[in-house]
Amino acid sequence: MPDQPNFDFIARPYRSLEYLTLGRALERCRLHFLPNLIQQRRALVLGDGDGRFLAELFVQNPQLVADAIDTSATMLQLLRQRCEARAPESSSRLTTCQTSALLCPLGKSYDLVITHFFLDCLNQSDLENLVNRITPRLSTGALWLISDFHIPQGLMHLPAKLMVRSLYLAFRILAGLRTTQLPDHVTPIRQAGFNRVAQQNRLFGLLTTELWQFNPAS
Ligand SMILES: C[S@@+](CC[C@H](N)C(=O)[O-])C[C@H]1O[C@@H](n2cnc3c(N)ncnc32)[C@H](O)[C@@H]1O
Repeated sequence: MPDQPNFDFIARPYRSLEYLTLGRALERCRLHFLPNLIQQRRALVLGDGDGRFLAELFVQNPQLVADAIDTSATMLQLLRQRCEARAPESSSRLTTCQTSALLCPLGKSYDLVITHFFLDCLNQSDLENLVNRITPRLSTGALWLISDFHIPQGLMHLPAKLMVRSLYLAFRILAGLRTTQLPDHVTPIRQAGFNRVAQQNRLFGLLTTELWQFNPAS
């Protein structure tokens, strides 16, 4: 996958690098809406990295089966190991696929999509293609949990802009990520028939975690 970023190199130190730069803030974002996901049965998990979120989701929701997609073989290996360690029966509930989320085979019907700090790896047109690709595979009422960086208005605008720019530079150097600015997920996801049902901001609006529900007729 020559045009894809390659997170293999930073997969193992990823967790330590995250804690060093932003402490536990990203982790709190990922886990914030976990209690809202225990009724879901079939998840599509895109770019979950080293699997810290999915492992917790398996523990909290023993009925769930999941398809996890990532371009990084090392990230997927860590994800499988972590899921197996936290929820020993999870190997029968987990399917992994090393490919781009824009190309991956999709299951028949999902009631949950997870994208934590993943949509910011995509440019606007890829993000729109992804939304259009996934939406026909979702059941009515399906949830999409999105965590991402955000540039707020007001006093935090400039510091947040600088922070996001530095992170993109770091990922360009370490993982070959070509994206340079945060895409807008709100417009395409609304147009596809989702309503935002809950939102939590952290670090003065630099981080956002959002729960969207698919209600195509509304
Ligand atoms: C910035 S990391 C985020 C990891 C984790 N979700 C988190 O919350 O920290 C992005 C993840 O998405 C994967 N990735 C990047 N572009 C991708 C693509 N087009 N398709 C699938 N996975 C991709 C990377 O390999 C990496 O595991």
